Amino acid sequence: SRALRPIATVAFQNGAKNFSTSPEMQFKVMVAGAAGGIGQPLSLLLKMDPLVSTLALYDLAPFTPGVAADLSHMDTPSKVLGYRGPDELPSAIADAHVVVIPAGVPRKPGMTRDDLFNVNASIVRDLTQCIAVHAPKAIICIITNPVNSMVPIASEVMKKNGVYDPNRIFGVTTLDIVRSRTFIGQINGVDPKTVKIPVIGGHSGVTIIPVLSQCKPAPQIQEQAKIDALTKRIQEAGTEVVKAKAGAGSATLSMGWSGAMFTHSVLRGLKGEENVVECAYVKSDVTEAKYFANPICFGKNGIAKNLGYGQLNAYEQKLLQLAMPELKKNIEKGEKFVK
Ligand code: NAD
Ligand code: LMR
Repeated sequence: SRALRPIATVAFQNGAKNFSTSPEMQFKVMVAGAAGGIGQPLSLLLKMDPLVSTLALYDLAPFTPGVAADLSHMDTPSKVLGYRGPDELPSAIADAHVVVIPAGVPRKPGMTRDDLFNVNASIVRDLTQCIAVHAPKAIICIITNPVNSMVPIASEVMKKNGVYDPNRIFGVTTLDIVRSRTFIGQINGVDPKTVKIPVIGGHSGVTIIPVLSQCKPAPQIQEQAKIDALTKRIQEAGTEVVKAKAGAGSATLSMGWSGAMFTHSVLRGLKGEENVVECAYVKSDVTEAKYFANPICFGKNGIAKNLGYGQLNAYEQKLLQLAMPELKKNIEKGEKFVK
């Protein structure tokens, strides 16, 4: 398809007609909400990604062109373009291989992610509507909360437009894995990057299920009370940041990092690399919930294979049971919003 054909790097020789195309595959990534708390560090890291050739930054904020101008001075090869307001959205989206969406309001202390639904649902719906028209083959990565409901919203919008492909819509849950790696790395006294752990379910409270029994290396804690405490810390880590920021928003820097890593993995898949695996929240028939997060193998068209969640111990099975009603409720709420 046209939208997913990578942009070949063209090297002109002697400024004349002779030119060669390098085998390097590079892609256009569009960030919606690029001037925000997540959007800025995310865009900074994407400007450093060698797989990105064009970075389109879109936001409503009046200073969005300034963020683009600022990043465009970085001495990395990609081109940075700024777009402000709905009139410029189609140009920002056109021909994007990947659209990353951190647009929307964040939590304040005392709020749940679901409390953001009313404001963020229409933002994600309207952005997705524009993607459906201007880049229907783009891979959509949704960061905006509540993720559990936003992915169903985006999916329903794509369905309405007759361009739905469940393999191309992802809810970004990477921050849950990043946090799990960090906390377990600290417990075990090892580099967090060496910790491998799936986090399954969804991205809010009880729906976040770290599968500690599959963690490699195993967390060096035996007592059930400690396993329970670690599980709860991972589930509530977002709230930990919301409280510490005391009204100024939620995680932005660790999310920028997580979003850039996730996008890089998506691009590696698009490029044709094999065995690129990340957890993500996707359309699913792994459980009775219509959407579910677990390890996904990326490919040239988004999801190459849903790897499922493997074996859970009795404690994790109980967590899954606890998560299911909330997850289903969140999904239904998203679907109803569009229907
Ligand atoms: P922020 O308020 O700092 O930034 C949001 C940006 O979105 C702003 O620049 C705003 O102008 C822009 N925006 C609003 N409506 C828009 C629209 N229609 N089109 C384009 N841009 C629009 O918020 P933030 O801290 O960056 O958080 C953004 C979202 O990400 C929140 O919903 C938050 O809950 C969520 N989040 C998700 C995760 C996750 O793990 N998935 C982690 C952290 C935060
Ligand atoms: C997070 O996990 O940090 C995000 O979902 C933001 C939040 O509201 O906690």
